[in-house]
Amino acid sequence: MRFDKRTVRDVDPRGKRVLVRVDFNVPLGKPGAAGGEATVADDTRIRAALPTIRSLVERGAAVGLVSHLGRPSGIDPRLSLAPVAKRLGELLGRTVPLVADSVGPAVEQALRTMKPGDIVLLENVRFHPEEEKNDPEFARRLASGFDLYVNDAFGTAHRAHASTEGVAHVLPAYAGLLLEKELVQLGGLLEEPKRPFLAIIGGAKVSTKMDVLRSLVPRVDALAIGGGMANTFLLAAGRSVGRSLAEPEKETEARLVTDEIVGNRKDLLLPVDVVAAASVDGDGARGAAVYDVDEVPDHLAIVDVGPRTIERYAAAIGGAKTIFWNGPLGVFEVPAFANGTRRVAELLATSGAVTVVGGGESVQAVEEAGLAGKMTHVSTGGGASLELIEGKTLPGVAAIPDR
Ligand code: 3PG
Repeated sequence: MRFDKRTVRDVDPRGKRVLVRVDFNVPLGKPGAAGGEATVADDTRIRAALPTIRSLVERGAAVGLVSHLGRPSGIDPRLSLAPVAKRLGELLGRTVPLVADSVGPAVEQALRTMKPGDIVLLENVRFHPEEEKNDPEFARRLASGFDLYVNDAFGTAHRAHASTEGVAHVLPAYAGLLLEKELVQLGGLLEEPKRPFLAIIGGAKVSTKMDVLRSLVPRVDALAIGGGMANTFLLAAGRSVGRSLAEPEKETEARLVTDEIVGNRKDLLLPVDVVAAASVDGDGARGAAVYDVDEVPDHLAIVDVGPRTIERYAAAIGGAKTIFWNGPLGVFEVPAFANGTRRVAELLATSGAVTVVGGGESVQAVEEAGLAGKMTHVSTGGGASLELIEGKTLPGVAAIPDR
């Protein structure tokens, strides 16, 4: 897909003070029993922002990074970006000072002493409620003292907040390299996928994925469905799913998706066998067994796809040239029920197709299996990647002028 927005490559940042919006909303590890500082549990989003940061400082910019962390109401020291500053410093091999605020005197003071090539991280921008309100005055305060604005926060591009949208109307705005890469890879799925194009969609609830399915169905050649949301499709196909998680009120919509796929002679892959257990937590693992999808006992709940289903998905993966995967195929946080999800990650890694993994838990599964490097693209966006696939305009992208 062509990306028509202005990017950091279109500007000479030498001697400029550049405000860079990054998405450093990362999971923190809890401090140990003995107390101590919180640490970054997963630094994927920090590493993903390094190319933009390096590109700017190597070309003589002074960089102020701004991000949110969590959803604080007011100042909350537990959501300080201090652990992120430390991890970023380790990755860059230099100290990255944390400025005590994202606006006001602390930032003015930091900017006064910054030289070309310097990097600082501003404190959690959501400590100010004006951020999420996209308050224009707050956007002006964020911009104050900076010459340029770069948005590299793909994970937050679906939010119209002061640091993602408002400030782009105050300073000359450019896209960062991560934002560009995400748009090219995820957007490319919608525009010009190599065919056959297979989408594998899982996750607990079909209600959260209906818009994604509606957008993908006309574009794909095959659709494989797994996870809790497959149960609603099984119900719609007249099967009984025992005590499994399902949304009977979404049956009609599931039937419409089914009809559209089948009516257009595309392949719809639903589970043909499943792992079912007495409970969906680890306690249920002992009695878990594989059942044909027509024979799930009334007192059990579906927790994973079965081996014959995996074989069918493997054949579809083997024949595809483009694969988009979002959402786990079972209760993958319980190791005994993670087999389907893990196998899909492995099959994608060796498939030779263009493989794009989008959204929270499937990304986590790929990372945990150590297979992220084997995918064409692993998105740093959860909600943002889904909204992009749904065909929605992302305010953080829309606010950047075209080239
Ligand atoms: C995310 O993790 O999805 C982004 O950082 C956005 O966070 P938010 O849902 O709190 O706006």
